[in-house]
Amino acid sequence: MTVLVPSGILTPEGIVTGKAVAFERTIVAVDTPGALSARFPDAEVLTSESPTLLMPGLINSHVHLEFSANKSTLHYGNFVTWLYSVIEHRESLINRCDRECLDQTVRTMLHNGITAFGAVSSHGMDLEAAAAAPQKVVFFNEVIGSQAAMADALYNDFLQRLDSSKAVARPGFFPAVAIHSPYSVHPALIKRALRVANDEQLLTTAHFLESPAEREWLDANSGAFKPFFNDLLKQDYAVNDAMGFLELFADTPTLMTHVVHAESDELIRLAQDGHTVIHCPVSNRLLGNGAIDLDRLEAQKLKWLTGTDGLSSNYGLDLFEEMKIALFMHSETDLLPLAQQLLNSVTVDAAAALRLNGGRIAEEKDADMLWLELDHEPNTQTPLHLLLHQYDLLQIFIDGSAQKG
Ligand code: BEZ
Ligand code: FE2
Repeated sequence: MTVLVPSGILTPEGIVTGKAVAFERTIVAVDTPGALSARFPDAEVLTSESPTLLMPGLINSHVHLEFSANKSTLHYGNFVTWLYSVIEHRESLINRCDRECLDQTVRTMLHNGITAFGAVSSHGMDLEAAAAAPQKVVFFNEVIGSQAAMADALYNDFLQRLDSSKAVARPGFFPAVAIHSPYSVHPALIKRALRVANDEQLLTTAHFLESPAEREWLDANSGAFKPFFNDLLKQDYAVNDAMGFLELFADTPTLMTHVVHAESDELIRLAQDGHTVIHCPVSNRLLGNGAIDLDRLEAQKLKWLTGTDGLSSNYGLDLFEEMKIALFMHSETDLLPLAQQLLNSVTVDAAAALRLNGGRIAEEKDADMLWLELDHEPNTQTPLHLLLHQYDLLQIFIDGSAQKG
C-alpha cells in the first residue's frame, strides 16, 4: 500500500485540500492523512516539502500513431490540400515510422502525463507498439473506402486487423472500431463494420464534419472535394449525407471527432443518440477547419472530450498544450469554468466515453494518476494555472505503478 499526501487533489468539481490517497493497483481510500496513516500504518508514505497536486492521468481520446514521422512533410492551412499531401506522402511517412518511432511517440505521450489513449489504426502497423505501451489503449481498427466494388476486400482486411488486435489480450488493451468518415466510407461497409462492433460491444469512433469542404460535398456534391473525388475516385457524388451517416449510428454511441461544421439538427441528433464529440483544437487550426462552438455543444448537453489528433496534424502530443490552445481559442467563454471543463474532458469525461475505470481520484478507480509540483498552495484558480504553466510531473502512476525512475 502507498499513501500519497498532496497539498491538493483535482476533482471534477475543483480542488480539494486536506486529503490523501491510499492506493495499490486501484485507489483504496481517499481520506485525511491522519486517518490513512492509522488505517495503513505500514504503507509507504509519499510527501513533499513544496506544494503538490494529485490529479488523474490524462486520456488522449484521438491519436494516429502510424503518422508519427510527420513534422514538416504535410501541407497545412487547407483540409483538401492537406489530404492530397497525405495521399502523396502516406507510404513514405508510414515506412519512416518504424517501431522505434512508434515507441518514442508512446513514450512522449507518457512523459506528457498521458496514461491512456485511443489510437486510430489505419493499417495495423502500430499494433505491436500499442500492445507494448505502458498506457491503457483503446485500439480503433479503421475502415476506409467509398467504392462499393472494394467493399468486400476492405471489410475482410478490417476483420483481419481486428482479429490481430483481439489476440493482444493484455489487461488495459481494448480492441475497437473506427469508421473513417462519411465522405470516405461506403454505407454498406459502415453497416457491416458497425454490426461487428454492436455484436461484440466494441467501442466505435469516426471523423465527422471536420472541414468546410466536407460540409459542401455531403450537402451539395460540390466544393473542393469535387475534383478530388472526380479525379482520384471517379465519383460525382458523396456516398453519405450527414444525417444519413448519423442514422447508420443510431444504435451505436460513438466518439465523433471534430464536428466543427455540424448544424443544430445534427447536434441535437448527436446528443439524442448518446454520441460524444472529440475536439482537436490544434488540428482544426492547422488544417484550416476553424473553431468548434463549444457553447452550442453545451446547449444541447452534448458530451465532448479534447484530443490531440495525430502528428499528421499537430506539432506535439501534449494534452496540457492542447487545453491551453483551447482556452485561448474559445476566448468568449468564461475562463475558469472552461479550464475545469477542459480538464474534465481529458480525465473523468474521457474515461466514461472510453469505458475506462480511471479519470478520477476516487475509491475503486484505477490508480492512474499524476503527481505535480506546483508553485503555489492549491486554490480555486489552480485548474487555470495547470493549463498556463507546464508544472513538473514528480511522478506518473499507471495501475499504481510508478512510471518515472
Ligand atoms: C476513399 O477511399 O474513398 C477515400 C480515402 C481517403 C479520403 C477520401 C476518400
Ligand atoms: Fe484524426
